[in-house]
Amino acid sequence: MDTTLESIRWENGKLEILDQTLLPRTKYIPVTGVEDGWHVIRNMQVRGAPAIAIVGCLSLVAEITKDDHRDKKSLRQDVEGKLNYLVSARPTAVNMKIAADELIHLANKLTKDTTVNIDQMKESLIDSVELMLIKDIADNKAIGDFGAEEILKHTHGDGAVKILTHCNTGSLATAGYGTALGVIRSLHKKHNLETRPYFQGARLTAYELVYEGIPGTLICDDMVAALMKSTNISAVVVGADRVAANGDTANKIGTYQIAIVAQYHNVPFYVAAPRTSIDFSIPCGDYIVIEERPEREMSHIKNERIASCGIHCWNPAFDVTPARLITGIITEVGVFRPKDLIKLKTERN
Ligand code: MRU
Repeated sequence: MDTTLESIRWENGKLEILDQTLLPRTKYIPVTGVEDGWHVIRNMQVRGAPAIAIVGCLSLVAEITKDDHRDKKSLRQDVEGKLNYLVSARPTAVNMKIAADELIHLANKLTKDTTVNIDQMKESLIDSVELMLIKDIADNKAIGDFGAEEILKHTHGDGAVKILTHCNTGSLATAGYGTALGVIRSLHKKHNLETRPYFQGARLTAYELVYEGIPGTLICDDMVAALMKSTNISAVVVGADRVAANGDTANKIGTYQIAIVAQYHNVPFYVAAPRTSIDFSIPCGDYIVIEERPEREMSHIKNERIASCGIHCWNPAFDVTPARLITGIITEVGVFRPKDLIKLKTERN
């Protein structure tokens, strides 16, 4: 069996995504341009911080390939406007914003470069987005290896390594392999979690694990403390939607309470994230905008109401785990204590 699960298909300028709201039914849907891109991101048909950025940028590429532009300046303006629109689809994950800033920077540079014509400018923008796909998989494999090495270093005894994760950070959430789930792939033994109200653990992570034959156990979010008390969990590994300069990390709602429970039980708590999830422009997590999702995602399952009519719902999609609860941040260039994250800051970020 082909064990590669593909959430994003990009071939000959055509983009398709696996509609994750329909899983376990497999249906790929076309994304023909930026408008489609915005909607599939907003409706969570594709989700996960790296996948959002890649699909957003590919939707732009699919569109500019078809469109005629008067000159380089009008192409640059079009690219900037469309990228800013894509950034607005979901506010918390930073990867789309970072990718947009980089593409706008490139577009500005190419506009000023008199040796480059409009076709070459388009080609360069397309190449740079296509590189994101390749780089994301390579980065995730590096994250997987660094994370597995780090966890094995701190795991004593001959028992199975048991990893607890949250939400979905695998092939579905990235161009392939995954971040926290990439670490698990590299370790290949784990426990995993359901994530309410959106059931990403049950619908997505469980699907990926079964698909690839990786053993796992599904638990609900409210079972973490009992699990840690009764089972020797080796480590928690989660993903990130945005990591602030001090290491405070926004991730799927419920991550913060897992970090608190992990600290109480002396279980190391890791965040696995590429450098494109680190936002050095904000000093700490207080500056992260938390997306609020529609009440209906809590009050209904599929189309059936499960909560009493008239009850008010609060439905934030993410929370922020303070850096002091995080043992290490696993990136594609190594594992960093939150206080050392600043070493990764470059001139461009
Ligand atoms: O709301 P989602 O499904 O987009 O949230 C996803 C997460 O919180 C992931 O942990 C994060 O984006 C990292 S995915 C590699």
